[in-house]
Formats: sequence, C-alpha cells, structure tokens
Amino acid sequence: MKTVTALSVASEIYPLIKTGGLADVTGALPAALKPHGITMRTLVPGYPAVLAGIEDPHPVHVFAELFGGAARLLAARQDELELLVLDAPHLFARAGNPYVGPDGNDWPDNAFRFGALAKVAAMVGQGLVDGFSPQIVHAHDWQAGLTPAYLRYSGKASPATVFTIHNLAYQGQFPRDLLGALGLPERAFAMDGVEYYGAIGYLKAGLQLADRITTVSPAYALEIQGPEAGMGLDGLLRLRAQQLSGILNGIDDQVWDPSTDIRIAANYDLHTIAARSRNKLSLQGRFGLRPEPGTLLIGVISRLSWQKGLDLLIEVLPTLLADGTQLALLGSGDPALEAVFRTAAQAHPGQVGVVIGYDESLAHLVQAGADALLVPSRFEPCGLTQLCAMRYGAVPVVARVGGLADTVVDANEMAIATGVATGVQFSPVTADMLAAALLKTRALFADRAAWRNLQINGMTTDVSWRNPAQHYARLYRELLASR
Ligand code: ADP
Ligand code: GLC
Repeated sequence: MKTVTALSVASEIYPLIKTGGLADVTGALPAALKPHGITMRTLVPGYPAVLAGIEDPHPVHVFAELFGGAARLLAARQDELELLVLDAPHLFARAGNPYVGPDGNDWPDNAFRFGALAKVAAMVGQGLVDGFSPQIVHAHDWQAGLTPAYLRYSGKASPATVFTIHNLAYQGQFPRDLLGALGLPERAFAMDGVEYYGAIGYLKAGLQLADRITTVSPAYALEIQGPEAGMGLDGLLRLRAQQLSGILNGIDDQVWDPSTDIRIAANYDLHTIAARSRNKLSLQGRFGLRPEPGTLLIGVISRLSWQKGLDLLIEVLPTLLADGTQLALLGSGDPALEAVFRTAAQAHPGQVGVVIGYDESLAHLVQAGADALLVPSRFEPCGLTQLCAMRYGAVPVVARVGGLADTVVDANEMAIATGVATGVQFSPVTADMLAAALLKTRALFADRAAWRNLQINGMTTDVSWRNPAQHYARLYRELLASR
C-alpha cells in the first residue's frame, strides 16, 4: 500500500475549536485514515483557542503581508493531530465564535479571513512547506471553498482536490469587487469559476472547481440535487453529479464510549444497560426534573437554528407533556428559541428541563441518561448526535431526512419483526408527524422488551469511522489514479 499525503483545510477542528459537527469530523478524519496509508495534516486558522491549545508550534513560513497584515504559518501538534496553523493576528486574534463578532453579526472581513485560509491552503498544496507535498487537498465547507480556485488560477501544477459539503445552507457570498483584493484574476469571475448570482461564492467555487465533491450522507447527496435542499446550488450539483458522492460521518468511539466515559455518572455496556438508570437520575438532577426512574425522558442536544426543527417541538409540547413524559434540552443559538425553551421550563417545572449553553460534558450525560434522543431536523446533512445516541443506548427519534434517514432504522412492523430497528423516523417534518412519532415512541417505551431491542440494536451498530474511512481512502486513491 503506497502512502498518500493529504492536506485537510477547515475552519474548525475538535478539540481546539468547535461550533458543530464539522469540527468533530475534521478532528477525527486524520486518525481514521491512518490505517489506510493516508498521512493527513490539517490547516486551521490561528484563533486564540487554537494557539492556546497546540503543542510544539514552530514557524515554517512568514508572510510579510497577507490581506492587510503580517502572518506566520506554524507547524504544530495537538495530541495525535498534525497541524498547520495560520497565525494571522489581524484576521484571527478574536476570541469567541469564529464567524460572528460580539454584536451578533458576521465579522465584516470574513471574505479575507477565509480567503486567507484558502490561499495559504493552495500555497501549501503547491509545496510551500519544506518536506510536505500533499497529493490531495481536501477542503471543507465554504470557509475553505476558495482553495480549489486559488489552485486553479495559480497557473501552476496542482494536487488533486476534494471538497466536502457539511452544510449547504452556509454559502459564503461576498461582493464581486473584492475579487482583485482577494488576489483572484478577472477570468475567475465566470459561471464556471467563482461567480455566484453576481457575487463571489466561496461554497460555489469549491463545488465548481474541486475534482471531487463529497457530502456527509448518501441521502443528502441526492437531496441537494433537488430545488429544496439544493438551496440555489442544485443545478450545479446535478451538473457535477458524476463527481459527487455521499460518505457518512462516523463518531470517535473512544471519546464516545459508555463503558469508559468519565463524564457520566455510571459506566455501562451492552450487558449492563440497566446501569443507565444511574445516569438518568443524575441527568434528572442536573436538569431539575423529578427523579422518576420509570418516566420516559427525551433528550435534545442541538444548535438552536431553523435547520434543527425545534420550533416544532414547542408546538407539540402539550402532546409530549400530557402523558407525563420529561424533556431535557441542551442547546444554544437563536435567541428567540432560547427564550421560548427557557419559558417552557419555567412553565413546567420538574417536567421540562432546559440548559442553554454549550457543554460538551453535559452532552455525554444526556446521551447516557435519556431514554430517547430527539432530532426533528428540517434538513440534516449527516447529524452526529443520533450516532452518539445509538452508541449510548438512547433511542433516536428522528426526521426522515439526510443522514438521519441513512443511519436510523425505523421501528416499523417489518424492521421490528426482523429485529433490525434502531429508532423512530417521521416524515414529512411537520408538527403533526412529530407528535405521532412521540406517541409511537411512548408506546414502544411501554413495551420493555421492544425497547431493549431498539437499544441493543443501536449499541451494536458500527457508528465508528471504520467504514467511512475506507470510503474516503478509496476516493483518494481512485482520484489519484484517474489523473
Ligand atoms: P451540526 O453540526 O449541524 O450542529 P451535528 O449533529 O453534526 O450537527 O453535530 C453537532 C455536534 O455538536 C455534536 O457533537 C453535538 O454533541 C454537539 N453539540 C451541539 N449542541 C451542543 C451543546 N449545546 N452542548 C454540547 N454539545 C453540543
Ligand atoms: C454540519 C451538518 C451536520 C453534519 C456536520 C458534520 O454541521 O449540519 O448534519 O453532521 O456538518 O459533517
């Protein structure tokens, strides 16, 4: 097996900087690919949290001027991760969320912040760093979308490129008149280049110019070729359908392992599922819920955004609460949704528990203690929480969209009869169908044997990176062979 050298480029990486699943994926991919003979380094922006968390940083390149200031490229490590960190204080020395300033608006210079990330990625791809010649440059989401554009318009020989869509809803569109300042030639501003509805489209550029496009589930790969999920890019994606494929995400099964997890109240495995009850009690305590072992407890761990469909949960709350079911929600995001859930918790003390915030440890306890985990997304490229839920014996109740459709086996009659069901799916994504799914969940929960089967089937499903890594490795090798 010949070794393949790859550069991954992303704006987030777990555990250094994370706003969502993107970070989990970029953080897990290098280790997952290693057994397949792929050596991957990851280029990330030097946000304060990244600079504070890296080990052995040393400069490998100095830029006298990079979009308005001096910058350095650092080689560094974080545990097993091999990193290149773009230390550009004028662009990245800002604490907090990587995209949004304290006023809640996108940073006004995001075009240059992520233009710089992509430009440096392209330079690294073309040999900027001594002793590192990537054969593959793998860019993630709009923040890295210009990478294939900088490569293409450099006029120099380029490595092969892969672009992964984690979410088509974030497209990175910027005014046309920035083209020159971004260092892209006039000819790049064309339909077969970076032009997108009269602006510069970073995501569009990645989709247009990368050799291969992947997204994070087969179902989402199909959905985005249609007008609804395509969000303006479906035409281009249909055009490039031959280069587009869906590869499911995995989860890090060492970070997420109920038998060793130190963030939960009691460890357990397939043979000691009953020990989950101690986690349930602890979870009920943390969320101010009544300590009732036999009551169905539904968990939610989510960004609060339109995508996640949690406004529907508010609509069906009366149905959910009528039979005594408890809800524990951990989330943050849209201030209006945060307020609505806080109010719901106040209105139903002991039955609705809400923690507004981002808390990695608490997420583990929710997975270990909730009976079911609800993910009512309107669209979901892959989704990771339902995978963690299966591994932890929390039964996923999910909208039948994208990666949720691909990863959860609905408890319909056939699936129950053949013993393969792992959760509950509903479709279309409406309040009525969600209410029906919750009633079905309730009925399944009341049947102890049926419920235990769902838990066991979930816990024995391979949700690790083993399968996905094989697919990525094959894609890289096929791409290299085709050039
Ligand atoms: P997305 O990337 O669209 O937010 P995913 O399901 O792919 O959705 O990934 C979400 C990741 O973020 C998971 O690892 C999940 O556990 C985590 N997460 C989301 N919200 C929170 C929160 N409030 N506290 C802790 N972890 C969260
Ligand atoms: C995005 C998607 C989510 C996916 C994650 C990682 O944030 O919303 O579905 O799991 O990226 O690929």
